[in-house]
Amino acid sequence: MNLAPLDRESVIPLYYQIRERLLEQIRAGVFKPGQSLPSEQEIAEHFAVSRMTGRQALKSLRDLGVTYSVRGKGTFVSAIKLEKDFRQVTSFTEEMKARGIRPKSKVLFFEVVKADEETMNALQLKTRESVVSLRRIRFANTSPVGIEWSRIPQRICPDLLKTLDPQASLYETLAQRYGIKMAIADEIVEAGLARGEEAGLLGIAAKTPVFLFTRISYLQSGEAIEFVKSVYRGDRYKIVNRLTRLKA
Ligand code: GLP
Repeated sequence: MNLAPLDRESVIPLYYQIRERLLEQIRAGVFKPGQSLPSEQEIAEHFAVSRMTGRQALKSLRDLGVTYSVRGKGTFVSAIKLEKDFRQVTSFTEEMKARGIRPKSKVLFFEVVKADEETMNALQLKTRESVVSLRRIRFANTSPVGIEWSRIPQRICPDLLKTLDPQASLYETLAQRYGIKMAIADEIVEAGLARGEEAGLLGIAAKTPVFLFTRISYLQSGEAIEFVKSVYRGDRYKIVNRLTRLKA
């Protein structure tokens, strides 16, 4: 088994970390459809966790519909397509590339500002500290699809204004330059109507239906590090969710 060690300092439960490690390998094709996964005993030994934790990790994969168990034989990888699976914390760039589309951005605002009340609450900031505020129009090939406005504490990426090429991926730069990896995101999606300025930027008529996203992204440690408000065109964007039903 070639699975990265667990982060025992993290607030993310161990079974969940194991689940993520196994998912990565399934996604990478290390474990192929029909192939068996390590047993709870093997998982427990490999990660030095209890058998209970190993069992929970395997159960959570089953609950996702990614694997199935055969009594007395073990857990096997399902042929289900992971690409269409439950939503991942993906970047716009990753999402577009996965669909074979070229991502592009136009920067509307990129500066360090003092956090406003809403950002302080979202990122649980104790003081009105400086945040990098980045507002961009995101394009799929040449069509504008959304406007994203991210706020990130400056302390975790002090010279982002210099290091980020605004045409490039924010998440990639945060990961490569500062070792910042978003692990979890809470996202709320609401329906709305494009306001005048947004409509102009998106090339649609005012009051056209749009999706409104509010995302707070967290590190593995549970620290909130990105607060994003986005407006996406209702006619150019769709949200795909796969839902699974918990099995007894
Ligand atoms: C998605 C998210 C945003 C995030 C962005 C980063 O669109 N909804 O919250 O800021 O990705 O994208 P990229 O790394 O392509 O700049």
